[in-house]
Amino acid sequence: MKTVVHVMGARPNYMKIAPLMDALAGVPGLHQRLVNTGQHYDEAMSGVFLRELNLPRPDRDLDVGSASHAVQTARVMVKFEAVCQEERPDLVVVVGDVNSTMAAALVAAKLVIPIAHLEAGLRSFDRTMPEEINRLVTDAIADLLLTPSADADENLRREGVPESKIFRVGNIMIDTLQKHREHARFDRVRDRFAIAEGAYAVATLHRPSNVDDAETFGGIMSAMREIARTLPIVFPVHPRTRARLATGVSGDTNGLILTEPLGYLDFLSLTSHARLILTDSGGLQEESTALGIPCITVRQNTERPVTVTEETNELAGSRPNDILAAFRRALSRTGETRRPALWDGQTAGRAAAVIRQFLGL
Ligand code: UD1
Repeated sequence: MKTVVHVMGARPNYMKIAPLMDALAGVPGLHQRLVNTGQHYDEAMSGVFLRELNLPRPDRDLDVGSASHAVQTARVMVKFEAVCQEERPDLVVVVGDVNSTMAAALVAAKLVIPIAHLEAGLRSFDRTMPEEINRLVTDAIADLLLTPSADADENLRREGVPESKIFRVGNIMIDTLQKHREHARFDRVRDRFAIAEGAYAVATLHRPSNVDDAETFGGIMSAMREIARTLPIVFPVHPRTRARLATGVSGDTNGLILTEPLGYLDFLSLTSHARLILTDSGGLQEESTALGIPCITVRQNTERPVTVTEETNELAGSRPNDILAAFRRALSRTGETRRPALWDGQTAGRAAAVIRQFLGL
């Protein structure tokens, strides 16, 4: 019997782990265990996703909660080390680029347990982003680098990763999106936000570089107020951003339709029927490409360049005039669903095949 321990911790992890666990379910000789670090813990950031994505009940809850980067990373490490010592996994699977990803990978590497990193190789080349450090560290010590795209393979090769460790499996988040899209009907959100199909924007913001600095955040909010004069904006607010809004540094929120963070299905209903998406999220850039909804990314760089080359996404930066200019350009783009290579809903099967081969199953 071989044991695989999957690690998830924060909101963008759940939609990557769910299809992989499904694809590996029932493999003879394989025992899957699920560890939830609890980096995200609110019902709206965690519980609703676990239910809607049909994730199994975690075998272990580490309950690490929020803290500084060092403390949060260290808490995951201390608790995950004990899990590994008890479970003795043959493989640890980590996904994405959050603190829990890097923390669990470090623990496994020190215990000489092989690591698979799903969504390996993405690079923004911006080391002021905590996620970029998490990606670099995780990829440097992982054994199976399961990548979403050719640019990711290229990044790894440039860093000296041997070809034998790189497996291009595709974009696993699109598996989840395709599976749930038909359930994400517009009537889930229409009345709640009093919006008309195709005639509103969806905004999300949570990067520390955008919301922690008062001037930057204030500028972005002023651009959003201006956009909302012509196109209503529904703005599900991340807890970090809510705390910043509460300080009043960003000016008023008049004209914006604010809401708590939404669950997977409500959010997909909202985005898939929108005219425009404005975001600093990595995953949402990809989802907008798959949905064919024009996206304005409030960042100077992206670790997902394929979204820009597909021409559904524009990097606008954080200055209000640049955001407004990008808004005018985005309105003239026509929506068309894009399918970059291996965004085909079959990524979990390919990732599972690599893992089975590695384990000899
Ligand atoms: C984390 C990830 C980021 C990802 C984002 C998605 C890292 C370094 N960052 O950022 O890559 O894009 O998740 O949301 O791993 N909080 C709550 N309830 C929660 C979780 C957080 O209130 O369930 C609040 C806390 O005040 C916390 C703050 O949000 O301090 C930030 O949470 P944290 O997990 O540290 O980082 P995120 O900004 O969510």
